[in-house]
Amino acid sequence: MRRPLVAGNWKMHGTIASVSELIKGLRLLALPGGVDVAVMPPCLYITQAIAGLAGKNVAVGAQDCAVEPMQGALTGEIAASQLADAGCRYVLVGHSERRQLLGESDGVISRKFAAAQSCGLIPLLCVGETREQYEAGETLAVVMRQIGAVIEALGVGAFAKAVIAYEPVWAIGTGLTATPEQAQQVHGAIRALLAAENAAVAEGVRILYGGSVKAASAAELFGMPDIDGGLIGGASLNADEFGAICRAAG
Ligand code: G3P
Repeated sequence: MRRPLVAGNWKMHGTIASVSELIKGLRLLALPGGVDVAVMPPCLYITQAIAGLAGKNVAVGAQDCAVEPMQGALTGEIAASQLADAGCRYVLVGHSERRQLLGESDGVISRKFAAAQSCGLIPLLCVGETREQYEAGETLAVVMRQIGAVIEALGVGAFAKAVIAYEPVWAIGTGLTATPEQAQQVHGAIRALLAAENAAVAEGVRILYGGSVKAASAAELFGMPDIDGGLIGGASLNADEFGAICRAAG
């Protein structure tokens, strides 16, 4: 049985003061015991979140990491080893905004995935199709290509200690949530892809849905057999809404 995970991706939002207020709200939440909960602040606020959430069953992760795992001469980057040293548990790799806006390739994302795992972090591999690809019927081809790049680089076994987040780009920040049936179809196909290589890994890997998840839509989404939780953007910036989504996964 896979343990649900609900992760909040704060994206490029926050100030020291607003992060302090959000942490206070998170600390007051009644969270379900059987759900893993995490938040991914902007890098600048990771240590503030780790200190502020000490003793609360909320893990902290990063939104990205360098392709090189260890610290060194790579200006402006943050090494997975440094994230682990700070107390992070997860790291997002391949978020669509980094693929689309920063041109991150499947190859770079696979290297970041490997760097994260080499430092004991759990990578959350983000995959998903654009509106154009969806309308062209290319959803599964795109998602399989993105996952296949990691399998080719690292082997399917790499997913034994990783999470996959399916985020249709057309649903991110738009209010257009995929229907539970739409999301389940892609999640089921992802699990089947992995099962063709390794049944145990496929059964054990958590596949999250992301894309305009709100408290009102979470329970039906999370009730689907291959949806193991959510990667939450906007709604994670409101502690009470995020808490309701976490409880919907319980
Ligand atoms: O990484 C999660 C994010 O892309 C989803 O954003 O605002 O649609 O929940 P949002």
